[in-house]
Amino acid sequence: MTSPERYILAIDQGTTSTRCILFDRRATVVAVARAEHPQSYPRPGWVEHDAARIWRDTQRLIARAMRSAGIGASQVAAIGIANQRETTVVWDRATGVPVAPAIGWPDTRTSSLASALDPALIGAKTGLQPATYFSATKVQWLLDHIPGLRARAEKGEVLFGTMDSWLIWNLTGGREHLTDVTNASRTMLMDLSTLAWDASLLDVCTIPQAMLPSIRSSSEVYGAASSVLPGVPIAAAMGDQQAALFGQTCFAAGDAKCTYGTGGFLLMNTGSTPVRSTHGLLTTVGYRIGSDPVAYALEGSIAVAGSLVQWVRDGLGLIGTASEIETLAGTVADNGGCYIVPAFSGLFAPHWRSEARGVIVGLTSYITKGHLARAVLEATGWQTREVVDAMNADSGLALTALNVDGGMTADNMLMQIIADVLDVPVVRPMVAETVSLGAAYAAGLAVGYWSDLQDLRNNRHRAGRWLPAMEATRRAAEYRKWQRAVDAAVLFSS
Ligand code: G3P
Repeated sequence: MTSPERYILAIDQGTTSTRCILFDRRATVVAVARAEHPQSYPRPGWVEHDAARIWRDTQRLIARAMRSAGIGASQVAAIGIANQRETTVVWDRATGVPVAPAIGWPDTRTSSLASALDPALIGAKTGLQPATYFSATKVQWLLDHIPGLRARAEKGEVLFGTMDSWLIWNLTGGREHLTDVTNASRTMLMDLSTLAWDASLLDVCTIPQAMLPSIRSSSEVYGAASSVLPGVPIAAAMGDQQAALFGQTCFAAGDAKCTYGTGGFLLMNTGSTPVRSTHGLLTTVGYRIGSDPVAYALEGSIAVAGSLVQWVRDGLGLIGTASEIETLAGTVADNGGCYIVPAFSGLFAPHWRSEARGVIVGLTSYITKGHLARAVLEATGWQTREVVDAMNADSGLALTALNVDGGMTADNMLMQIIADVLDVPVVRPMVAETVSLGAAYAAGLAVGYWSDLQDLRNNRHRAGRWLPAMEATRRAAEYRKWQRAVDAAVLFSS
């Protein structure tokens, strides 16, 4: 009798939703369960998540994915986790209850703390730019604002973690408090060369080491799940953008991908040496498989991409579903002279202006909601162009094609816009769920489900390709107008 087929379970805990996906050996999606969770905006610039609700969703979604595949726990070879990065949870070690809502990565409440940091120190130690984006100032803010919390943190009674740590803590029934090196690299507290928490940064941000998780590789067995899928090894954790890099099989230096979710994140594998950016990109950890050397990456982070479409849907009510943005944009031939710079969380790469705020410019009475929809899609295109220009300048190489993935890549008009503004082909793989796939690959490697990187490369198949079709003079003129719109967003600072 042949033994039943086994699968890898990936959990993708993203900014707006959580997904649980089962993959087989050929990287085929066997079952998917997905649920959105609410974004809470209690004050301008604040973005919060309910971590307890996210853990409840995760348990429900795992059960749903298992039911839909019709399999039991013994058929799951390993669990891999990918997660929204930087979002900060602090919880009580004894009760497992969060002490406050999780502070989301786009939250800007800590801008005064971030602007007090020394860019030279932060850059040299962490490869990052001092910004509200990263976890450090969010932890500091909680310690400063919740009475008695710092004293409890010093005694190790409360714990800090990003969403990977939070889920692993819960999945293991409170036994494991750890994070992986990619997530740790986004806290602004880890030294990029030693891959350890840095005492001087902890000191500057007044964060007690006792509340921090231990830092592990992205692919190794961390422990076994307890109540949900009891006994199944938890064998990978990666920040979602790094997971997408891995899922796109960007294993060689120079390989790059851009994931379009809530934000947009372009990462290039730079090999085993960190490359310092001089053009506004971040240096970060790409992944670490067990005790192999670390693969570093350069990253261009765009704070707002899909979340602009979500705002048009939920904030303005101009569309009923996210996919209607393409239909609405298709009612007009161009943007009518209108540009939207969605600096809702300030501007990330390559500008790093936390104080910038969003603008819509070029309004005349000619502008319709169709033009606005077009400008929404183009905003993602031009923001990508800015980070590609920075990536080309930093790496000394010109990108010849852009590998894309993520929910927004279902929008064919957006794919064409990106090819047009970059003037390179845009390529989408067969499995668009590359974040989950990357987490599954890392978990599968750790337990021998897949044998090596070549095994993973063999699974990659191309599904779509868009070629540039915009005239060079028009591209240059539009880019100049976009850049003037960005200037306006910086001028209109909070
Ligand atoms: O750094 C933030 C990033 O990890 C969020 O990704 O896909 O949830 O927008 P996403």
